Amino acid sequence: MSRNAEDLAAQIRVAAGAVPPKIGLVLGSGLGHLAEAVQGVAIDYADLESFPHAGVSGHNPKLVIGTLEGVRVAVFGGRAHYYESGNPAAMRLPLEVLKALGAETLLLTNAAGSMRADIPPGALMLISDHINFSGLNPLIGEKTDARFVAMGDAYDPALRHALKAAAEAESEALEEGTYAWYSGPSFETPAEIRAIRTLGADAVGMSTVPEVILGRFLGLKCAAISTVTNMAAGMSDEAISHEHTKAMAPLGAEKLERILRAFLRQY
Ligand code: HPA
Repeated sequence: MSRNAEDLAAQIRVAAGAVPPKIGLVLGSGLGHLAEAVQGVAIDYADLESFPHAGVSGHNPKLVIGTLEGVRVAVFGGRAHYYESGNPAAMRLPLEVLKALGAETLLLTNAAGSMRADIPPGALMLISDHINFSGLNPLIGEKTDARFVAMGDAYDPALRHALKAAAEAESEALEEGTYAWYSGPSFETPAEIRAIRTLGADAVGMSTVPEVILGRFLGLKCAAISTVTNMAAGMSDEAISHEHTKAMAPLGAEKLERILRAFLRQY
């Protein structure tokens, strides 16, 4: 754990109180407003020294510490992506801070393109596993043996079970699938999508995978849900754009909020 993470955790405790969050929630593109559902203290990333900028539109670069459905949570309203800086470990400091605050669970959300007709735009997908199509790794350069992280059950089976039960309680479909990480910021070509479909991916996006690797490295239990904003390149006539992602994400966001609330009530 870096010194900076401990210092930032101390600063956050002064602002928001010393009760440790149980869960860290990272909000993806177009989902930033979910941070407003939390009753608590919001801190701008700009006030947290060395925090990544998280400058992509559709994100809400604030850390909100408070309670949602009676559970103490830390909500990251925006994330830093590899494609913003070229650093696959761009989220390492925020996740170290989460760990230093005492959280045990990391719940990630993102916007993604789907490769499955039964998970159309507007639907959610629970990530069961991933394919690191970028070949990048946030732990390259890490010196300790802790870098050899086992990824067999990276997406925690008990958390997945609880999230599926929450979706069922809300009468929402929540298919499970494999998420492929593509570096971005350009979208994939149809040929790339055919390739990763063949390899077994169900959805594709530009985040989450490095955060799950870092989360497991830090000993956090991880789970992740994609909001499908489009069919992946070449799979429909609809044009793919960031504007479209931002416009579509709220369709999934409403379901996601209900599922998350039901999940937290049982947590
Ligand atoms: N590809 C990559 N990232 C995305 C997509 C996509 O089709 N949609 C939303 N984020």
